[in-house]
Amino acid sequence: MKKYLIGNMKMNQCYSVLEKYFDEIKEIAEHTDNFVGVCVPNVYLNLAKDKLAGSKVRYGVENVYHQDKGAYTGEVSVDMLKDFDTELVIVGHSERRQMFGDTDKEVNKKVKKVLSAGMTPILCYGESLEERKTGLTEEVVLYQLEAALSGLDKDSVSKIIFAYEPIWAIGTGVSATDDEAEEICKLSKDIVRERFGCEVVVLYGGSMKPANAKGLLSKPSIDGGLIGGACLKTEDFNGIINY
Ligand code: PGA
Repeated sequence: MKKYLIGNMKMNQCYSVLEKYFDEIKEIAEHTDNFVGVCVPNVYLNLAKDKLAGSKVRYGVENVYHQDKGAYTGEVSVDMLKDFDTELVIVGHSERRQMFGDTDKEVNKKVKKVLSAGMTPILCYGESLEERKTGLTEEVVLYQLEAALSGLDKDSVSKIIFAYEPIWAIGTGVSATDDEAEEICKLSKDIVRERFGCEVVVLYGGSMKPANAKGLLSKPSIDGGLIGGACLKTEDFNGIINY
């Protein structure tokens, strides 16, 4: 089964590194049937387009604003992203929710806006350590999914890539166990199937690396990974893509 391995570069890398990185990742993607994607800082979209358009690597960004245009200093619209043939847009990453105040309502608006522009949202959700410790994981996931998908129909929901990312596993080196990740990815699929009647792609994200990729990606409900730290070097990313 084809797996989806998508990098989230966050606020890392620079032009000179990426020129080489894109060439290498293009080569890696040539030799796999898996879906290989990379989400980059907006300022490198032009370079991503130059290097990756027409290749097997799908590219995108890490955020977008839900308004079309206007006085929103520092923000970027879906039309601007489309100028660079952007395909993937991460929405609702926990770092955006925690540090930049993205609310469930805004996440919902962004998902809708990205879909209406014909791009693919990668919808992130997941519980904090506190919430897991107090047994609230399932409730939080259900709430976040319902909020993010509010007002959408089956056809739209089926186009979304879901990314379950427990906050305590992101950038910490401590991944969820294979079973913990499987449980919530399965729950996510069940929730969407029950509400919308469709099957969706669900990724796991949070300290995925070459050493733990095989265990996680062998689970039936985990369709791939959203990979932060380990996507930054093509050698590591390759170890996950060819797990
Ligand atoms: P990580 O990040 O792989 O560095 O934990 C994943 C993410 O934030 O998407």
